[in-house]
Amino acid sequence: MAEYKVKVTTGTMKHSGTIDHIYVILIGTEGQSERTELNSLGMDFITGKASCCVFKHLKKKKKHKTGAYKVKTSSSLGKLLLVKVEKDPFLIFPEDEWFCCKVEVKTPEDEEILFPCYRWLSRGEFVELRAGKGVKFLEEDHPMLLNHRKTELRFKKGTYQWKIINDGLPHITHFKDVFELFAEVRFPLSKTEELEHTQRMITLELAMKGLVEPGKKWKRIEHMKNVFQFKKTTMSGEYVLEHWKEDDFFGSQFLNGTNPNVIKRCSKLPPNFPVTDEMVKPFLETGTTLEKEMEEGNIFLCDQKIMDGIPTRQKDGNPLYVAAGLCLFYKNPEGKLLPIAIQLYQQPSEQNPIFLPNDLDTDWLLAKLFFRSSDLIQHQTLHHLLHTHYLAEVFTMATFRCLPTVHPLYKVLIPHINCTLHINILVRKLLLSPGGALSESSLGVEGLMELMRRDLSQMTYSSLCLPENINERGLESIPNFYYRDDALKLWNYLNDFVTAMVEYYYSSDCDVIKDIELQEWVNEIFTHGFLENKHSGIPSCFNTIEEVAKFITMVIFRVSVQHAAVNNGQYDYNSWVPNGSLLLCKPPPATKGESSMQTFLDTLPDVEDSVKIMSAARILSEKYTDVVLLGEFPEEHFDEPLPKEIIKALQADLSYIKEEIAARNSKLEMPYTYLNPDVVENSVTI
Ligand code: FE2
Repeated sequence: MAEYKVKVTTGTMKHSGTIDHIYVILIGTEGQSERTELNSLGMDFITGKASCCVFKHLKKKKKHKTGAYKVKTSSSLGKLLLVKVEKDPFLIFPEDEWFCCKVEVKTPEDEEILFPCYRWLSRGEFVELRAGKGVKFLEEDHPMLLNHRKTELRFKKGTYQWKIINDGLPHITHFKDVFELFAEVRFPLSKTEELEHTQRMITLELAMKGLVEPGKKWKRIEHMKNVFQFKKTTMSGEYVLEHWKEDDFFGSQFLNGTNPNVIKRCSKLPPNFPVTDEMVKPFLETGTTLEKEMEEGNIFLCDQKIMDGIPTRQKDGNPLYVAAGLCLFYKNPEGKLLPIAIQLYQQPSEQNPIFLPNDLDTDWLLAKLFFRSSDLIQHQTLHHLLHTHYLAEVFTMATFRCLPTVHPLYKVLIPHINCTLHINILVRKLLLSPGGALSESSLGVEGLMELMRRDLSQMTYSSLCLPENINERGLESIPNFYYRDDALKLWNYLNDFVTAMVEYYYSSDCDVIKDIELQEWVNEIFTHGFLENKHSGIPSCFNTIEEVAKFITMVIFRVSVQHAAVNNGQYDYNSWVPNGSLLLCKPPPATKGESSMQTFLDTLPDVEDSVKIMSAARILSEKYTDVVLLGEFPEEHFDEPLPKEIIKALQADLSYIKEEIAARNSKLEMPYTYLNPDVVENSVTI
């Protein structure tokens, strides 16, 4: 007689427990156990509870509920290969889904083996679990396991299918509705409820204030201050409202706002931006020249030529407007980045003047509004949607399709693809559908798609890898660039983590070349994400351990750190419409000296469109519970000691940077908080 001790853990999410019958069959090299019901005294498989926490500011830890059972067999089953878990209905009770976290088995030989599950089981469903040790294709040493691996991938390829929505754009999942997704890749119920609650509160607040009347224009800028009285952050509630007109604040947003991705050092002016020394002399230090400042690396440029010529949409029969501008910045001796010249369209002409800080106040303010609005469209469409959400979807699809759950890199990647399909389906349904905040922008859906198409055709691998991106843009030494400082440190920590994991599982470059599943994974990303564009520099295969480590660092960085950088500050910076708007109703001044504050007000969107932009920024920046932060691994997928140590080392690095960021921010007038690991999620979920 042999006895196996079995422990089964149920999830902590709402409704993750079940009263249904649960059975297991242990399958080994020497036979299998009887189908054994797991039933001990008291309630089995109930939802784990949040533990009491004396420190209210700390995130509540949830305790899993684990049940212990025995499975008896006539003799040892040999090497344990699979654990089959089945769920059968209890009497005639309705469907009662169960979230099984893991099964742990102690064999008669005293070996303790983890079998990760982390999925919902419905009535009559079963799952066959592999042990937690990461195994590559060529390492499979039993026909049953090889067959299990192939069957899993066949099933997943049938389930997760690519779909082309627009030529020239990354391919997406074929799922149209979140309810078509497996429960474990959907939002937890708590998040869905919180999102719906936030939406209801916003609708109620706007209705109470009479802010949903179509066509109503703003009479005074001050009236916008109280759109959301119940949701104020230090930045959105005070700082932006006080400083939005200032050049210093305008410049700082290109370093530490929601779009720190666009400025470059300028050593030579583009031929279509004829700024002269005379024009900018009053804004430079005495005794210097534009040429000299360019040579010294103190001049920076933001060029929006990618927007050039994209048709805008019409609203109520009237055209909307968007700039495709050029802005020159000067880093002054105090380290401040100041705009010194703005041209709003690409072709210089008399009707397209170069605006300067000493122009009429409202001319300069309008120039900044147009430039920032165009930047906001690029931020949302390219740097947020395409470079994080859409790429994250490509990484998610390729991972589900090409890597079986037992693959070591699936285990590395799974925390970073959580809920991404769900949020992207919502983005397409709510933001990019008629009436959604993004489709109502000056470009409309067609224009946004064209913008993404242009951007993807010129996207490069190096631009997605932060250290190279910063070097290519010449931003290594510009001061007060907190995004760069924090993001580079996080990139390096992630690279250390990924390199250690990859080196643990791959002993040589030859191992990499022979891993056909990994090769297929990167090839799917190259094909479906980058449309086989060889000029992008995106690899279509891997030849070395180093290449794998760099690519996976890029993937994790994009979906966690970079998404946090472009997502978390949206309410702070983008909910104050005079600081930038997704749509503008009047053209920019073609002649200097004729504008007024009324021109500025007429240019802004009406009340209904303004509050739509503000509401979207608020929903996307809201803090939700049940988030999984960078470095947290609530699911136990690894069973070997070294990967667990590598995870602990990453967590120690992240704790260290939290303290560094807090110390730096305590000295800043405008703290940069978006990359504190306390607010960086592991995956794109909002
Ligand atoms: Fe997002």
